[in-house]
Amino acid sequence: MISSSARPRRLRNLKWARDMFRETRVVADNLVYPLFVAPGKKFKKEISSMPGCFHLSPDEAAAEAGRCRDFGINAVLLFGLPSKKDPLGKEAYDPKGPVPEAVRLIKRSVPDIGAITDVCLCEYTSHGHCGVVKKGRDGNFLVDNDLTLKLLVKEALVHAAAGADFVAPSDMMDNRVGAIRRALDGAGCRQTGILSYAAKYSSAFYGPFREAALSAPQFGDRKSYQLDPANFLEALREVELDVMQGADIIMVKPALAYLDVLRAVKDRFNFPTAAYNVSGEYSMVKVAAQKGLINEKAMVLELLTSIKRAGADMIITYHAKEAAKWLSGKQ
Ligand code: PBG
Repeated sequence: MISSSARPRRLRNLKWARDMFRETRVVADNLVYPLFVAPGKKFKKEISSMPGCFHLSPDEAAAEAGRCRDFGINAVLLFGLPSKKDPLGKEAYDPKGPVPEAVRLIKRSVPDIGAITDVCLCEYTSHGHCGVVKKGRDGNFLVDNDLTLKLLVKEALVHAAAGADFVAPSDMMDNRVGAIRRALDGAGCRQTGILSYAAKYSSAFYGPFREAALSAPQFGDRKSYQLDPANFLEALREVELDVMQGADIIMVKPALAYLDVLRAVKDRFNFPTAAYNVSGEYSMVKVAAQKGLINEKAMVLELLTSIKRAGADMIITYHAKEAAKWLSGKQ
């Protein structure tokens, strides 16, 4: 028998061999940077729960998209903050709202960056739920799935008309991908794609985002429409439904605590796949870095590599700008 004890090491000892045989490479091309768009002009304010992230007026969001493009990032994901919230989330489908306005400015000033818009009501509703709320038979609140679909469709059409390349429904209502697809096709927006938050878990990792969007539910929780973290098969069923209804890209969210789901989704559906490295995952790293407890650059690149290794083609991450700088080798 030939001794094999040193075999793995002969490759690992050599830098060129490590570089040549590395299986996974994260590049700026994979990254999407989320932007929080608020009404106004020349407005930029740091979000206290997410150090390094900002509320931006549409003009500032367009400027930020330009910087992202310079770093090699291919797309931004836009979230909107309304000037006021109401039970039906009316500003979500206002063509003059901050998101459509930002999309128009971005398309004008940075035409070659992708504009993806989050489609949901929770940022716009006074109660913070992702849909229209009604009383159930037991007296507890319920989200009215089908009434909500009508409003989500309106929101998606407004974003598409403003020029969004993809709309990204994050509400987890049943049948929303099919409803949005039919409406887009009917309105002549066949080219507008759907990035579906297909397997979205009910997660504590959204905490900092809810402060950023002031969208924490005022009563109840999102467990009736988001997935239970204990469920794996249910996630696969959700993804299958969205694929059947016409999603172009399917997403698993959050990323890090659900890498098993991500791997399974990629293997089973062999479909363009996204993962959302969410606000809680970001802020944990950021705050630890601010306290000098970790090497931020090494940790972020390791985490992003893990998400890609698990099957993500697209990674939505608040680290995108910094990571793209690090990956370019200039910093
Ligand atoms: C809206 C939405 C949320 C996130 C993305 N879209 C919040 C939620 O469902 O509570 C979370 C993103 C993050 O935590 O970074 N439905």
